[in-house]
Amino acid sequence: LKDRYGPWALVAGASEGIGAAFATTLSRQGLNVVLVARREGPLHDLAERLATDTRVVPADLATPEGVSHVVDGTNDLDIGLVVSNAAYSPIGLFIDRDPADLDRVLDLNCRALLRLARAYLPAMVERGRGGLVIMSSLSGMQGTATIATYAASKAFGAVLAEGLWAELKPTGVDVVACVAGAVATPGYDRALAKRAPGTVEPQQVVSAALRALGRRPRAVPGAMMRVSAALMARVLPRRTAIGVVSRATANLEKP
Ligand SMILES: NC(=O)c1ccc[n+]([C@@H]2O[C@H](COP(=O)([O-])OP(=O)(O)OC[C@H]3O[C@@H](n4cnc5c(N)ncnc54)[C@H](OP(=O)(O)O)[C@@H]3O)[C@@H](O)[C@H]2O)c1
Repeated sequence: LKDRYGPWALVAGASEGIGAAFATTLSRQGLNVVLVARREGPLHDLAERLATDTRVVPADLATPEGVSHVVDGTNDLDIGLVVSNAAYSPIGLFIDRDPADLDRVLDLNCRALLRLARAYLPAMVERGRGGLVIMSSLSGMQGTATIATYAASKAFGAVLAEGLWAELKPTGVDVVACVAGAVATPGYDRALAKRAPGTVEPQQVVSAALRALGRRPRAVPGAMMRVSAALMARVLPRRTAIGVVSRATANLEKP
């Protein structure tokens, strides 16, 4: 990993959960890591636990200033791998949500992803090596009630990854969409009352994504999630798939 994607990796949304697991694994593999999220404290705590060099860049990636702050704060580093993992996933009825709140889903889950990719990919293409991991979700593989905007934003990430995978393949830069089902993260536990069957650990997500990077355009972590993904996409009629996922999400919601 270090030869192909080093010397520096940037993890967006590194303060907990899947992002922290990515940072830990990449550091264990010898990569230096830029840690980005809004909360500076957890980023510094994580940096102290990592054996390689780190740079903590606190930023709100849902704002253009936050993205610029990250790009400007790393322009002296050779970033060979970007993990676009930060996301906002408000749960509730679409018509009850503040329009500004829905904009925030797009700003973070789509616009920040685009801007980070556009900022870091050119140097990787020039070097002839590098990687981009885009965290997506099984909820984005069909519409999902009560998280409709989040699900649509995750479809954006997965499709963007596939297009970039095809476009950048000849340049030596690898792109993968990691399409996760339920993952046991603090964010997941805060939002939902109980864990869904087949819930995987953050480390399984990281391993699946890094295994697929350079081999396939898409990774689905966990055997049970791979079966449900295939079922949803290829076997069930579209409206049944939407109903199944929507009911599952509603059942898990905190009252
Ligand atoms: N957990 C699951 O079940 C699951 C399932 C499928 C896909 N995913 C995807 O996996 C990724 C990680 O999920 P997760 O559950 O580990 O974590 P999460 O609760 O979604 O938070 C992810 C990270 O993003 C950071 N973040 C949030 N808003 C930010 C902002 N405006 N600017 C900068 N950083 C921000 C958070 O740190 P701060 O609060 O410190 O900013 C945190 O470190 C997401 O893309 C999610 O869509 C998760």
